[in-house]
Amino acid sequence: MSEVILNINKIKKTFGGFTAVKDVDLKVNKGEIRFIIGPNGAGKSTLFKLIIGYLKADYGDVIFKEENLNKFELHQRIKKGIGLKFQAPSVFNEMTVLQNLEIAANQTNLNDYNDFIDRFGILEEKNILAGDLSHGKKQWLDIALASISNPDLVLLDEPTAGLSFDETKKTGEIIKYLNKQGTTFLIVEHDMEILKQIATAVSVLHLGALFVEGSPQSVLKNKDVAKIYLGAS
Ligand SMILES: Nc1ncnc2c1ncn2[C@@H]1O[C@H](COP(=O)(O)OP(=O)(O)OP(=O)(O)O)[C@@H](O)[C@H]1O
Ligand SMILES: [Mg+2]
Repeated sequence: MSEVILNINKIKKTFGGFTAVKDVDLKVNKGEIRFIIGPNGAGKSTLFKLIIGYLKADYGDVIFKEENLNKFELHQRIKKGIGLKFQAPSVFNEMTVLQNLEIAANQTNLNDYNDFIDRFGILEEKNILAGDLSHGKKQWLDIALASISNPDLVLLDEPTAGLSFDETKKTGEIIKYLNKQGTTFLIVEHDMEILKQIATAVSVLHLGALFVEGSPQSVLKNKDVAKIYLGAS
């Protein structure tokens, strides 16, 4: 039987009178690369922020490795083995690539990490300021920051936003490599190419609620999913 690493139980979030996330249940198995997709405003980033503890839910539970995380703040959730990358890159532009990684890893002298950095295609840039990186390399640095401390689960919000086709493909290869090393992924995305490349399961959100979930193949050929993307339902 698959082992559930993350179990979201009937989670809800309202902003004033508006319900952004509506009683969502979600189970992620260890080893998965789970995608969360859905039209703009579907509640994907809000759900992401509820899982990491950046936002507080109205009700519902976030259970990670069989422990209820509700009472824990974001930094405590990270310590428990969750890595994360927000929708906007959150690297320190005024520091070098290596300094960014040292902060994320909470240790100095990361020279032994050359292989790790190389995986992300940023080895040659390790001594330049993160602010001088191309957009693609900044995204990869951000994924490296999310995964350097070897978390069990990494959450990424739109890791390929603004990337070219080739950069998107390389992002998929990086994630697949980390997944083979044992990291489970939960990825919010709009890009269907990377979904086809690496997703093992897909959950679709629509108007804050879980609309459908299943294999990438079944979700991609689901006509109702196509309709909500076109705004027809
Ligand atoms: N802090 C907030 N205050 C008020 N409304 C919010 C807040 N955050 C999100 N919302 C609203 O909740 C809904 C869901 O937003 P969310 O950012 O979760 O969508 P999303 O699925 O990530 O969209 P996108 O694909 O555009 O990133 C939107 O209608 C948004 O305007
Ligand atoms: Mg979003």
